[in-house]
Amino acid sequence: MYLQNKDSNWEIRAPAKLNLHLEVFSRREDGYHELETLMVPVNLFDTLWFRSQPAGRIEFACQSSGSPSTADALGFVPRDHSNLVVRAVELLRARAGIAQGAVIRLFKRIPSAAGLGGGSSDAAAALAVANRAWNLDWDIGRLRSLAAELGSDVPFFLGTSAARGGGAVCRGRGERLTGVTGLGKLHFVVARPPEGLSTAEVFASCRPASEDQAIPTTSQLQRLIRALQSGRIAAAGRLLHNRLQSSALQISGWVKRLQQEFAKLDILGYQMTGSGTSFFGICRSARHARCVAAQLRMRDVGSVYALSNCRLGLPIT
Ligand code: C5P
Repeated sequence: MYLQNKDSNWEIRAPAKLNLHLEVFSRREDGYHELETLMVPVNLFDTLWFRSQPAGRIEFACQSSGSPSTADALGFVPRDHSNLVVRAVELLRARAGIAQGAVIRLFKRIPSAAGLGGGSSDAAAALAVANRAWNLDWDIGRLRSLAAELGSDVPFFLGTSAARGGGAVCRGRGERLTGVTGLGKLHFVVARPPEGLSTAEVFASCRPASEDQAIPTTSQLQRLIRALQSGRIAAAGRLLHNRLQSSALQISGWVKRLQQEFAKLDILGYQMTGSGTSFFGICRSARHARCVAAQLRMRDVGSVYALSNCRLGLPIT
Protein backbone atom coordinates (compact mmCIF):
# COMPACT_ATOMS: atom_id res chain seq x y z
CA MET A 1 0.00 0.00 0.00
CA TYR A 2 1.47 3.35 -0.98
CA LEU A 3 -0.04 6.37 0.72
CA GLN A 4 0.33 10.00 -0.35
CA ASN A 5 -1.30 13.17 0.98
CA LYS A 6 -1.54 16.32 -1.17
CA ASP A 7 -3.70 19.20 0.15
CA SER A 8 -5.89 16.78 2.16
CA ASN A 9 -6.45 14.62 -0.93
CA TRP A 10 -5.21 11.16 -0.04
CA GLU A 11 -4.14 8.70 -2.69
CA ILE A 12 -3.30 5.10 -1.98
CA ARG A 13 -2.26 2.22 -4.25
CA ALA A 14 -3.74 -1.17 -3.41
CA PRO A 15 -1.80 -4.17 -4.78
CA ALA A 16 -3.06 -7.56 -5.97
CA LYS A 17 -1.80 -10.81 -4.37
CA LEU A 18 -0.84 -14.31 -5.42
CA ASN A 19 -1.16 -17.48 -3.32
CA LEU A 20 2.03 -19.52 -3.72
CA HIS A 21 0.65 -22.18 -1.37
CA LEU A 22 -2.92 -22.79 -0.25
CA GLU A 23 -3.92 -25.76 1.87
CA VAL A 24 -7.49 -26.24 3.13
CA PHE A 25 -7.45 -28.40 6.27
CA SER A 26 -11.09 -28.72 7.32
CA ARG A 27 -14.58 -27.30 7.20
CA ARG A 28 -15.54 -25.28 10.30
CA GLU A 29 -18.87 -25.03 12.08
CA ASP A 30 -19.20 -21.35 11.10
CA GLY A 31 -19.17 -22.31 7.40
CA TYR A 32 -15.58 -21.15 6.79
CA HIS A 33 -12.58 -23.40 6.17
CA GLU A 34 -9.44 -23.72 8.23
CA LEU A 35 -6.55 -23.00 5.92
CA GLU A 36 -2.89 -22.12 5.56
CA THR A 37 -1.69 -19.96 2.70
CA LEU A 38 1.45 -18.11 1.63
CA MET A 39 0.49 -14.83 -0.03
CA VAL A 40 2.69 -12.25 -1.70
CA PRO A 41 1.63 -8.78 -2.88
CA VAL A 42 2.29 -8.13 -6.59
CA ASN A 43 2.62 -4.90 -8.57
CA LEU A 44 -0.79 -4.72 -10.20
CA PHE A 45 -2.54 -1.83 -8.40
CA ASP A 46 -5.96 -0.30 -7.93
CA THR A 47 -5.83 3.37 -6.88
CA LEU A 48 -8.04 4.80 -4.17
CA TRP A 49 -8.49 8.55 -3.84
CA PHE A 50 -9.99 9.89 -0.60
CA ARG A 51 -10.99 13.32 0.72
CA SER A 52 -12.59 13.80 4.11
CA GLN A 53 -15.68 16.01 4.24
CA PRO A 54 -17.34 17.40 7.35
CA ALA A 55 -20.91 16.62 6.22
CA GLY A 56 -21.61 12.97 6.97
CA ARG A 57 -22.17 11.76 3.39
CA ILE A 58 -19.96 9.10 1.80
CA GLU A 59 -19.78 9.81 -1.94
CA PHE A 60 -18.36 6.93 -3.93
CA ALA A 61 -17.50 6.49 -7.59
CA CYS A 62 -15.68 3.64 -9.24
CA GLN A 63 -14.00 3.75 -12.61
CA SER A 64 -12.18 1.07 -14.58
CA SER A 65 -8.93 2.13 -16.15
CA GLY A 66 -8.31 1.56 -19.85
CA SER A 67 -10.60 1.01 -22.82
CA PRO A 68 -14.17 -0.36 -22.55
CA SER A 69 -12.86 -3.82 -23.51
CA THR A 70 -10.31 -3.65 -20.67
CA ALA A 71 -13.15 -2.61 -18.36
CA ASP A 72 -15.15 -5.70 -19.44
CA ALA A 73 -12.16 -7.93 -18.77
CA LEU A 74 -12.05 -6.65 -15.17
CA GLY A 75 -15.35 -8.41 -14.42
CA PHE A 76 -18.18 -7.16 -12.23
CA VAL A 77 -17.31 -4.42 -9.71
CA PRO A 78 -20.11 -2.94 -7.53
CA ARG A 79 -20.19 0.77 -8.31
CA ASP A 80 -22.59 1.68 -5.50
CA HIS A 81 -22.51 1.60 -1.71
CA SER A 82 -22.40 -2.20 -1.68
CA ASN A 83 -18.73 -1.97 -2.74
CA LEU A 84 -16.46 -3.30 0.03
CA VAL A 85 -14.64 0.05 0.09
CA VAL A 86 -17.78 1.85 1.23
CA ARG A 87 -18.69 -0.94 3.65
CA ALA A 88 -15.17 -0.66 5.12
CA VAL A 89 -15.27 3.10 5.75
CA GLU A 90 -18.86 2.96 7.03
CA LEU A 91 -17.90 0.23 9.49
CA LEU A 92 -14.84 2.19 10.67
CA ARG A 93 -16.90 5.35 11.07
CA ALA A 94 -19.62 3.54 13.06
CA ARG A 95 -17.10 1.85 15.38
CA ALA A 96 -15.13 5.07 15.87
CA GLY A 97 -18.38 6.93 16.61
CA ILE A 98 -17.61 9.89 14.32
CA ALA A 99 -19.81 11.82 11.92
CA GLN A 100 -17.32 12.78 9.19
CA GLY A 101 -17.97 11.84 5.60
CA ALA A 102 -15.75 11.34 2.57
CA VAL A 103 -15.50 11.62 -1.18
CA ILE A 104 -13.96 8.40 -2.50
CA ARG A 105 -12.90 7.46 -6.04
CA LEU A 106 -11.69 3.97 -6.89
CA PHE A 107 -9.75 3.29 -10.11
CA LYS A 108 -9.82 -0.44 -10.86
CA ARG A 109 -7.08 -2.33 -12.64
CA ILE A 110 -7.20 -5.63 -10.69
CA PRO A 111 -9.76 -8.04 -12.21
CA SER A 112 -12.56 -9.28 -9.92
CA ALA A 113 -13.48 -12.87 -9.01
CA ALA A 114 -9.97 -13.74 -10.10
CA GLY A 115 -8.19 -14.93 -6.93
CA LEU A 116 -6.08 -11.75 -7.00
CA GLY A 117 -7.59 -10.17 -3.88
CA GLY A 118 -8.59 -6.88 -5.54
CA GLY A 119 -11.73 -6.21 -3.48
CA SER A 120 -9.96 -7.15 -0.23
CA SER A 121 -6.98 -4.95 -1.04
CA ASP A 122 -9.27 -1.99 -1.83
CA ALA A 123 -11.06 -2.48 1.51
CA ALA A 124 -7.75 -2.57 3.43
CA ALA A 125 -6.59 0.56 1.58
CA ALA A 126 -9.87 2.30 2.47
CA LEU A 127 -9.45 1.45 6.17
CA ALA A 128 -5.83 2.64 6.19
CA VAL A 129 -6.53 5.91 4.42
CA ALA A 130 -9.71 6.72 6.38
CA ASN A 131 -7.83 6.07 9.62
CA ARG A 132 -5.27 8.71 8.59
CA ALA A 133 -7.58 11.22 6.92
CA TRP A 134 -10.08 11.16 9.80
CA ASN A 135 -7.20 11.36 12.37
CA LEU A 136 -8.46 8.31 14.22
CA ASP A 137 -5.03 6.95 15.07
CA TRP A 138 -6.20 3.37 15.44
CA ASP A 139 -3.28 0.95 15.77
CA ILE A 140 -2.69 -1.87 13.33
CA GLY A 141 -4.12 -4.53 15.67
CA ARG A 142 -7.44 -2.71 15.98
CA LEU A 143 -7.64 -2.07 12.23
CA ARG A 144 -6.80 -5.70 11.55
CA SER A 145 -9.74 -6.99 13.63
CA LEU A 146 -12.07 -4.69 11.74
CA ALA A 147 -10.53 -5.88 8.47
CA ALA A 148 -11.25 -9.52 9.43
CA GLU A 149 -14.94 -8.66 9.78
CA LEU A 150 -14.96 -7.45 6.18
CA GLY A 151 -13.32 -10.51 4.63
CA SER A 152 -10.78 -13.27 5.33
CA ASP A 153 -8.09 -11.78 3.04
CA VAL A 154 -8.48 -8.14 4.09
CA PRO A 155 -6.06 -8.26 7.11
CA PHE A 156 -3.24 -9.50 4.84
CA PHE A 157 -3.35 -6.25 2.87
CA LEU A 158 -2.85 -4.16 6.01
CA GLY A 159 0.51 -5.92 6.39
CA THR A 160 2.36 -7.36 9.33
CA SER A 161 4.82 -5.36 11.38
CA ALA A 162 7.43 -8.17 11.14
CA ALA A 163 7.59 -8.39 7.34
CA ARG A 164 6.81 -4.70 6.82
CA GLY A 165 4.43 -5.53 4.07
CA GLY A 166 6.12 -8.39 2.26
CA GLY A 167 4.77 -11.93 2.10
CA ALA A 168 2.83 -13.59 4.89
CA VAL A 169 1.57 -17.01 5.89
CA CYS A 170 -2.12 -16.63 6.71
CA ARG A 171 -3.89 -19.17 8.91
CA GLY A 172 -7.29 -19.65 10.54
CA ARG A 173 -9.77 -18.56 7.91
CA GLY A 174 -6.99 -16.37 6.50
CA GLU A 175 -6.97 -13.59 9.10
CA ARG A 176 -4.10 -14.81 11.35
CA LEU A 177 -0.84 -13.57 9.84
CA THR A 178 2.82 -14.42 10.24
CA GLY A 179 5.13 -12.21 8.19
CA VAL A 180 7.70 -13.92 5.97
CA THR A 181 10.88 -12.00 5.13
CA GLY A 182 13.62 -12.54 2.57
CA LEU A 183 11.55 -14.04 -0.24
CA GLY A 184 13.64 -12.14 -2.80
CA LYS A 185 12.47 -10.65 -6.08
CA LEU A 186 10.04 -12.99 -7.85
CA HIS A 187 8.77 -12.65 -11.41
CA PHE A 188 5.42 -13.94 -12.59
CA VAL A 189 3.24 -14.25 -15.64
CA VAL A 190 -0.44 -14.02 -14.69
CA ALA A 191 -3.53 -14.74 -16.80
CA ARG A 192 -7.12 -13.94 -15.88
CA PRO A 193 -9.57 -15.66 -18.26
CA PRO A 194 -12.79 -13.95 -19.41
CA GLU A 195 -14.75 -15.79 -16.71
CA GLY A 196 -14.38 -15.38 -12.93
CA LEU A 197 -15.37 -17.68 -10.06
CA SER A 198 -17.25 -17.21 -6.80
CA THR A 199 -15.00 -17.85 -3.79
CA ALA A 200 -17.92 -19.31 -1.79
CA GLU A 201 -18.75 -21.76 -4.59
CA VAL A 202 -15.16 -22.96 -4.95
CA PHE A 203 -14.78 -23.50 -1.17
CA ALA A 204 -18.16 -25.29 -1.04
CA SER A 205 -17.03 -27.92 -3.54
CA CYS A 206 -13.52 -28.29 -2.08
CA ARG A 207 -12.48 -31.58 -0.50
CA PRO A 208 -10.39 -30.52 2.53
CA ALA A 209 -7.18 -32.33 3.45
CA SER A 210 -8.90 -33.88 6.50
CA GLU A 211 -11.32 -35.73 4.18
CA ASP A 212 -8.56 -36.76 1.83
CA GLN A 213 -5.60 -38.99 2.60
CA ALA A 214 -3.67 -35.80 3.26
CA ILE A 215 -0.18 -35.13 2.05
CA PRO A 216 1.60 -33.25 4.89
CA THR A 217 1.65 -29.92 3.12
CA THR A 218 2.79 -27.87 6.12
CA SER A 219 6.24 -29.31 5.52
CA GLN A 220 5.79 -28.57 1.81
CA LEU A 221 5.08 -24.95 2.76
CA GLN A 222 8.23 -24.81 4.90
CA ARG A 223 10.27 -26.26 2.01
CA LEU A 224 8.75 -23.72 -0.37
CA ILE A 225 9.64 -20.81 1.96
CA ARG A 226 13.20 -22.13 2.41
CA ALA A 227 13.62 -22.53 -1.36
CA LEU A 228 12.43 -18.95 -1.96
CA GLN A 229 14.58 -17.52 0.84
CA SER A 230 17.69 -19.21 -0.54
CA GLY A 231 17.00 -18.11 -4.12
CA ARG A 232 16.29 -21.66 -5.41
CA ILE A 233 13.44 -20.50 -7.62
CA ALA A 234 13.29 -23.62 -9.81
CA ALA A 235 12.86 -25.76 -6.66
CA ALA A 236 10.19 -23.32 -5.42
CA GLY A 237 8.38 -23.69 -8.74
CA ARG A 238 8.06 -27.45 -8.11
CA LEU A 239 6.67 -26.90 -4.59
CA LEU A 240 3.63 -24.75 -5.46
CA HIS A 241 0.32 -26.09 -4.12
CA ASN A 242 -3.32 -24.98 -4.21
CA ARG A 243 -6.00 -27.33 -2.91
CA LEU A 244 -8.77 -25.16 -4.35
CA GLN A 245 -7.59 -25.78 -7.91
CA SER A 246 -9.26 -29.19 -8.25
CA SER A 247 -12.64 -27.78 -7.14
CA ALA A 248 -12.30 -24.80 -9.49
CA LEU A 249 -11.51 -27.26 -12.30
CA GLN A 250 -14.94 -28.82 -11.84
CA ILE A 251 -16.73 -25.46 -11.97
CA SER A 252 -15.09 -23.48 -14.78
CA GLY A 253 -13.89 -24.82 -18.13
CA TRP A 254 -11.41 -21.92 -18.20
CA VAL A 255 -9.40 -23.41 -15.35
CA LYS A 256 -8.73 -26.55 -17.43
CA ARG A 257 -7.90 -24.39 -20.45
CA LEU A 258 -5.38 -22.30 -18.49
CA GLN A 259 -3.86 -25.43 -16.97
CA GLN A 260 -3.25 -26.74 -20.49
CA GLU A 261 -1.87 -23.44 -21.77
CA PHE A 262 0.49 -22.98 -18.81
CA ALA A 263 1.73 -26.58 -19.21
CA LYS A 264 3.05 -25.64 -22.67
CA LEU A 265 5.08 -22.66 -21.38
CA ASP A 266 8.78 -22.62 -20.53
CA ILE A 267 8.28 -21.60 -16.86
CA LEU A 268 9.48 -22.89 -13.48
CA GLY A 269 6.06 -23.83 -12.08
CA TYR A 270 2.45 -22.67 -12.29
CA GLN A 271 -0.92 -22.93 -10.57
CA MET A 272 -4.19 -21.15 -9.91
CA THR A 273 -4.14 -18.31 -7.36
CA GLY A 274 -6.67 -18.27 -4.47
CA SER A 275 -10.10 -19.49 -5.53
CA GLY A 276 -9.35 -18.64 -9.18
CA THR A 277 -9.83 -18.24 -12.01
CA SER A 278 -6.42 -16.63 -12.59
CA PHE A 279 -3.29 -18.71 -13.06
CA PHE A 280 0.29 -17.61 -12.52
CA GLY A 281 3.63 -19.00 -13.60
CA ILE A 282 7.00 -18.40 -11.97
CA CYS A 283 9.57 -16.96 -14.37
CA ARG A 284 13.36 -16.66 -14.24
CA SER A 285 13.51 -12.85 -14.65
CA ALA A 286 11.39 -9.80 -15.46
CA ARG A 287 12.43 -10.14 -19.11
CA HIS A 288 11.44 -13.81 -19.14
CA ALA A 289 8.04 -12.91 -17.63
CA ARG A 290 7.48 -10.31 -20.39
CA CYS A 291 8.40 -12.84 -23.12
CA VAL A 292 6.08 -15.51 -21.71
CA ALA A 293 3.30 -12.92 -21.32
CA ALA A 294 3.68 -12.01 -25.01
CA GLN A 295 3.37 -15.70 -25.97
CA LEU A 296 0.27 -16.14 -23.80
CA ARG A 297 -1.40 -13.03 -25.24
CA MET A 298 -1.40 -14.70 -28.66
CA ARG A 299 -3.43 -17.61 -27.27
CA ASP A 300 -6.57 -15.67 -26.36
CA VAL A 301 -6.74 -16.61 -22.71
CA GLY A 302 -8.02 -13.27 -21.39
CA SER A 303 -5.95 -10.58 -19.65
CA VAL A 304 -2.25 -11.33 -19.27
CA TYR A 305 0.23 -9.52 -17.01
CA ALA A 306 3.98 -9.70 -16.33
CA LEU A 307 4.28 -8.93 -12.60
CA SER A 308 6.69 -9.13 -9.70
CA ASN A 309 6.26 -9.21 -5.94
CA CYS A 310 6.28 -5.86 -4.16
CA ARG A 311 5.91 -4.37 -0.71
CA LEU A 312 2.56 -3.37 0.67
CA GLY A 313 4.11 0.03 1.32
CA LEU A 314 3.87 2.48 4.14
CA PRO A 315 3.17 1.70 7.76
CA ILE A 316 -0.51 2.30 8.46
CA THR A 317 -0.43 4.53 11.51
O1 C5P B 1 -14.12 -14.08 3.97
P1 C5P B 1 -14.71 -13.84 2.64
O2 C5P B 1 -15.99 -13.04 2.70
O3 C5P B 1 -13.76 -13.30 1.63
O4 C5P B 1 -15.12 -15.28 2.09
C1 C5P B 1 -15.99 -15.46 1.01
C2 C5P B 1 -16.55 -16.88 1.11
O5 C5P B 1 -15.51 -17.83 0.89
C3 C5P B 1 -17.11 -17.22 2.48
O6 C5P B 1 -18.46 -16.85 2.57
C4 C5P B 1 -16.94 -18.72 2.53
O7 C5P B 1 -17.99 -19.35 1.83
C5 C5P B 1 -15.65 -18.95 1.74
N1 C5P B 1 -14.47 -19.08 2.61
C6 C5P B 1 -14.31 -20.26 3.32
N2 C5P B 1 -13.21 -20.39 4.13
C7 C5P B 1 -12.29 -19.41 4.22
C8 C5P B 1 -12.46 -18.21 3.50
C9 C5P B 1 -13.56 -18.08 2.70
O8 C5P B 1 -15.12 -21.17 3.23
N3 C5P B 1 -11.23 -19.58 5.01
